[in-house]
Amino acid sequence: MGRKKASRLLGLVGGLGALLLGAVVLGGATQAAAQAKPAAVPSGFAGAETCRSCHEDQFTKFEKTKMGRLFLRNARNTKESLGCESCHGSGKAHVDAGGSKGVGGMISFAKDDPTPVEKRNETCTSCHTKGERLFWKGSAHESRDVACTSCHKVMEDVSPRSALAKPTVIETCGSCHLQKRAQQMRSSHMPLREGKMTCTSCHSPHGTVTPALLKENSANDTCFACHADKRGPFLWEHAPVVESCATCHDPHGSNKERMLKVAQPRLCQQCHIESRHPTSPYGPREAASLKFVLGRSCVSCHSNIHGSNSPSGHAFTR
Ligand code: HEC
Ligand code: HEC
Ligand code: HEC
Ligand code: HEC
Ligand code: HEC
Ligand code: HEC
Ligand code: HEC
Ligand code: HEC
Ligand code: HEC
Ligand code: HEC
Repeated sequence: MGRKKASRLLGLVGGLGALLLGAVVLGGATQAAAQAKPAAVPSGFAGAETCRSCHEDQFTKFEKTKMGRLFLRNARNTKESLGCESCHGSGKAHVDAGGSKGVGGMISFAKDDPTPVEKRNETCTSCHTKGERLFWKGSAHESRDVACTSCHKVMEDVSPRSALAKPTVIETCGSCHLQKRAQQMRSSHMPLREGKMTCTSCHSPHGTVTPALLKENSANDTCFACHADKRGPFLWEHAPVVESCATCHDPHGSNKERMLKVAQPRLCQQCHIESRHPTSPYGPREAASLKFVLGRSCVSCHSNIHGSNSPSGHAFTR
């Protein structure tokens, strides 16, 4: 985690640096603009103004995005100054042929683009190497051929942040993970649909060193980031809680109270068939057993189910 935190911090510092640099360049650019000298187009490339002559619509939309503002107005290096061609690749052949669909061997990023996904992603990762993308290679998404552009729309701003493909993170993820999106709507859920948290509160879609793309080292560490009271340490630990919060809870939402995966008392009965007292209303002591399974059932007595610090709390009753 330390390394990830550190790298995120580094990304942030880098980002700030870039911003500062951007501001400096911006200052200089107003002067440069007065001289109205467009950046020289490297040989083999057509230049953004040439693209604009036929793609005014795309040019105008792209111009308003964060990358557009940089590449088209305040390019800080050769790669950025390629403008449209920093992503689409050299468009000279396309232009020379008079421009038409599929002509000139550019990367179009469209559904019918023959360019392999890996190659398309390399366009993006050639600039975006730092920060969260450190763990992209080999991640669940990368290895299943998910493209950067499956989650990001870069030609125009459709989301307020991070150039996402849909207005919100949940909608972006939900376009593939239909079931996870649907679970937000169940009666018991964390405040995702209320907008107070989102998929990326727990997941890093760009890849992690942990399973399930979790931001922290484990499911439990992910939960502790907000539910610190459940971290302990406890004098009496409950084995399944230490193992994983997801043993009993579904963090994406459930129709059982408290996002439990299974209704009570069946939740407990999955593991506790017999104990000092009966745990089901059947058998010879049926009537006497009832009080153990009604109402909030087991947790009305075993209230400290996540762990206890009372010297006599071994059964989590105090
Ligand atoms: C940061 C990378 C990037 C840059 C820079 C870029 N594009 Fe695109 N372009 C894409 C992607 C990705 C698509 C695929 C569709 C999408 O995501 O919107 C695309 C699609 C297109 C299309 C196909 C039609 C469409 O709208 O879907 C045209 C035409 C196009 N771009 C022209 C341009 C022009 C002109 C510029 C410069 C003003 C430019 N692009 C700059 C990434 C880029
Ligand atoms: C002479 C006019 C012209 C110029 C200049 C031009 N294009 Fe095009 N481009 C077209 C036409 C026409 C199409 C086909 C549009 C369609 O079918 O919707 C096209 C299609 C595209 C597509 C989609 C390709 C596909 O296979 O789906 C991209 C991306 C694109 N152009 C990018 C660029 C870029 C980048 C530049 C500048 C280097 C550029 N174009 C310059 C006319 C031009
Ligand atoms: C020439 C280098 C370059 C290329 C190629 C490039 N980017 Fe960027 N991208 C940048 C820079 C620079 C920024 C602004 C960085 C910042 O604000 O820290 C940026 C910003 C972004 C952002 C954040 C936008 C926001 O509004 O916060 C996303 C998302 C992004 N790029 C995705 C992509 C994707 C996807 C591709 C490939 C289709 C791509 N980039 C290709 C350099 C590049
Ligand atoms: C599975 C969806 C998904 C894929 C695939 C994906 N991203 Fe992202 N990306 C996101 C989301 C969601 C955010 C916003 C993060 C947040 O809200 O914390 C983001 C944010 C970003 C940002 C801006 C914030 C930052 O971390 O600097 C950049 C740049 C970026 N992505 C680049 C890329 C590149 C490059 C690729 C391909 C290698 C890629 N993304 C693939 C979902 C995705
Ligand atoms: C273009 C489709 C697509 C989008 C959009 C998408 N994913 Fe995925 N995601 C996949 C695929 C494919 C897998 C591979 C596992 C599978 O078969 O379900 C996957 C796997 C995952 C996994 C499981 C990883 C593992 O190691 O088991 C998580 C967590 C995940 N995605 C989260 C997200 C989040 C969060 C977002 C939004 C930021 C998102 N995904 C957007 C396609 C997508
Ligand atoms: C409160 C934290 C949290 C939030 C918010 C969250 N997840 Fe998860 N997610 C997890 C945990 C923990 C796991 C691993 C579950 C396990 O170990 O059984 C997981 C697993 C997954 C998986 C892979 C395992 C599977 O069940 O197929 C996908 C896909 C996924 N989440 C997508 C999403 C999407 C999409 C969103 C947003 C709608 C989201 N998650 C929001 C914590 C979260
Ligand atoms: C980003 C912060 C955050 C993370 C991470 C997080 N939670 Fe939550 N959780 C919340 C908030 C906010 C609530 C709503 C609290 C309230 O209403 O008092 C909540 C509520 C809950 C509830 C009670 C739901 C109910 O119906 O009352 C459970 C159970 C829960 N979380 C389990 C988990 C588990 C398990 C994890 C790890 C997989 C986790 N949480 C990770 C913020 C978080
Ligand atoms: C053995 C099953 C089990 C495990 C494992 C488990 N919980 Fe719970 N949790 C419950 C039950 C049962 C309730 C409902 C308690 C009640 O109604 O008094 C609950 C309630 C909650 C609540 C809401 C009420 C409260 O106490 O704040 C949160 C938040 C919560 N759990 C978080 C977690 C976290 C975080 C973990 C992992 C460290 C975890 N749970 C592991 C069974 C479990
Ligand atoms: C996934 C299996 C699992 C689930 C579900 C589960 N437990 Fe446990 N529980 C255990 C294990 C394993 C132990 C440790 C047993 C031991 O040390 O002999 C334990 C210990 C206990 C103890 C202490 C036993 C003692 O000897 O002091 C109590 C009480 C208890 N659980 C109650 C519950 C209740 C109430 C629920 C439902 C909210 C529940 N458990 C759900 C596996 C589970
Ligand atoms: C009316 C209160 C009450 C209810 C309801 C209740 N228990 Fe208990 N349970 C106790 C008491 C009291 C103990 C003994 C605690 C001690 O020894 O300190 C106990 C002990 C246990 C133990 C440890 C047994 C042992 O051998 O030491 C387990 C496991 C257990 N209960 C599971 C459950 C399950 C599962 C349920 C729900 C089906 C449940 N309890 C409902 C009061 C209750």
